[in-house]
Amino acid sequence: MSLGFAAGRYSNGGEIRKLKAELDKRKVISQTETAALKDAFEQGADFWLKRDVKKFPDFDLRRENFAIPTVVVSNLKGGVGKTTITANLAAYFAAKGKRVLILDLDWQGSLANVFNTLRDADSALSEINQVFSPDADGSTLLSLIRWGGRIPDDLCYVTTYKSFSDTENQILVQWIRGDLPFDAHFLLANVLWTQAVKGRFDVVLIDTPPRMTAGLVNALSCASHLIVPTVLDETSGEAAAAFIQTADKFAQRYNPQLRIAGIVGSLTTRRPSLTASEERSRTDLVSRVDRLKLRYTGDELVANVWIPKKAAFADVAGRSIAYSSNSEVKLLFDQLAIELKMDKI
Ligand SMILES: Nc1ncnc2c1ncn2[C@@H]1O[C@H](COP(=O)(O)OP(=O)(O)OP(=O)(O)O)[C@@H](O)[C@H]1O
Ligand SMILES: [Mg+2]
Repeated sequence: MSLGFAAGRYSNGGEIRKLKAELDKRKVISQTETAALKDAFEQGADFWLKRDVKKFPDFDLRRENFAIPTVVVSNLKGGVGKTTITANLAAYFAAKGKRVLILDLDWQGSLANVFNTLRDADSALSEINQVFSPDADGSTLLSLIRWGGRIPDDLCYVTTYKSFSDTENQILVQWIRGDLPFDAHFLLANVLWTQAVKGRFDVVLIDTPPRMTAGLVNALSCASHLIVPTVLDETSGEAAAAFIQTADKFAQRYNPQLRIAGIVGSLTTRRPSLTASEERSRTDLVSRVDRLKLRYTGDELVANVWIPKKAAFADVAGRSIAYSSNSEVKLLFDQLAIELKMDKI
């Protein structure tokens, strides 16, 4: 099963050949590595699940002592509201007085851009690259965070931009070569599960790309909660269920602590009810997820709160986060947070 695709920004055969040619020219990659890289592009999630798990020293101890609640918002389907939900949940946590770290692991930089724009920072920087090094530690991350500006809440972020995709490709090659001291999956955990980060933040929110990249793999390997936004139509429901299954496989292997906080209907047509067709898609999604035989039992995974299409989200773009400037959006996200048990964080 090939669910997501490409590492980094390379998403078709032509792009893969371009990358290979580039690497060949620099004589940095062998035939075997090229083949493995191609596998990574073609197999998506399965490729990242293939090898034995290699953790960093004191992995369990560091998770137990230093891991803080980390919420990843993810779906391999694009344009389903991941970035919007991450930004507004970040504002929710900040309004509750939490010290929030926002990480954007999509080289498109949509989320980082939201915050860069709000704070007049340099939006072309990609300082997140430095976090994805086996030599990085908590203090590396703290040295890169940006804060302040026009939102009064304590929201910190690290800049992300296109060159993050090169970093992701380098990580993949290093991992394939066996040049990393531990799995490429745990680079982010290695930085987050530190005394420095625990002392500075209460919660981490991670926005991810709709592709199976090193960034997404790292997010799934260190998060405590997973939120999966989806549009309520048939094909999106199918994709959401498939992604949940992939995430569950990942969790089993790399991060047994990961809980699915919920699958959230997004960009729905009306408020507060769903249209008949959205209602059918939601019911279909509930039964699809029920059939998956996940590790989770008990709670219903498809949330009973959904996020309708609202002009308010776009109206404030670049100036504010809708949560902070629109009372209806605030109410909606307060309800969603309770539904997803984010209020317990
Ligand atoms: N509830 C909403 N109401 C109105 N517009 C929305 C809503 N949610 C998202 N949008 C808009 O829809 C577009 C896609 O949303 P968003 O960027 O959050 O999706 P995404 O899943 O992060 O996309 P990608 O997969 O490309 O990262 C954006 O232009 C965003 O402003
Ligand atoms: Mg996005």
